[in-house]
Amino acid sequence: MIKLPKWDQTLINKYNVSGPRYTSYPTALSLSGGYQQQDLVSAIKSSSSRSLSLYIHIPFCSELCYYCGCNKVITRHQSKADVYLDYLTKEIAAHAPLFKHYTVEQLHLGGGTPTFLTVKQMTRLINLLEQHFHFTRNTERGIEIDPRSLAKDMLIHLRVLGFNRVSFGIQDFNDEVQQAVNRTQQVDTVKTLITQARELGFKSINADMIYGLPKQTPQSFEKTIAQLIAL
Ligand SMILES: C[S@@+](CC[C@H](N)C(=O)[O-])C[C@H]1O[C@@H](n2cnc3c(N)ncnc32)[C@H](O)[C@@H]1O
Ligand code: SF4
Repeated sequence: MIKLPKWDQTLINKYNVSGPRYTSYPTALSLSGGYQQQDLVSAIKSSSSRSLSLYIHIPFCSELCYYCGCNKVITRHQSKADVYLDYLTKEIAAHAPLFKHYTVEQLHLGGGTPTFLTVKQMTRLINLLEQHFHFTRNTERGIEIDPRSLAKDMLIHLRVLGFNRVSFGIQDFNDEVQQAVNRTQQVDTVKTLITQARELGFKSINADMIYGLPKQTPQSFEKTIAQLIAL
């Protein structure tokens, strides 16, 4: 018997307002340019915690989904990622020494589409991070995956590189909705990947869904959610 949550109108009214997209905390709206480099250095040195969460943004996708609010560049040229990794190398070399007494508890690769990277580029990125930061066997390593464009054997390579969490971008399974947002993908593709991820021993498998897309109806989304639950 499922226990339903209690209906709390006051709580519902409190949050029934427009808010920023919480893909990070604090959200982008709270960021400001009014701090000096020294403020950052002092904060890092004086923090009572020695745990670090690293987020690496890979801002490339090969096709545009019309609803997308992420920071990305649409391109088919994978060599662009080499240039990006060159700059990332400089950035990491400049900042990593500040964190020499920190341990990485969590690593997350987001985007854009992190799996836009080739296996070689992905290996380069992880080697770079491991060279500059202190990881442990318990570090949680997560990555966002676009099921439509996963290179053959990429999941295996991700596991070899120590990833233990995957997040698949699904959004909606309905054909009409998918066409309206320029993102067509089959349930079977997702099913195959989820099965493979389980077999490979990823300990956490997430699915991103979106409601509010064009052509969605309560009935169509109910079906999408039922298909997701079946997976
Ligand atoms: C960076 S993408 C995931 C990786 C990959 N690019 C993909 O689409 O599968 C992260 C997630 O952000 C969500 N997202 C993108 N644009 C959004 C928007 N405008 N509002 C809410 N969620 C959005 C989608 O659910 C998407 O799966
Ligand atoms: S693939 Fe992901 S990041 Fe790229 S445009 Fe689509 S939703 Fe946005």
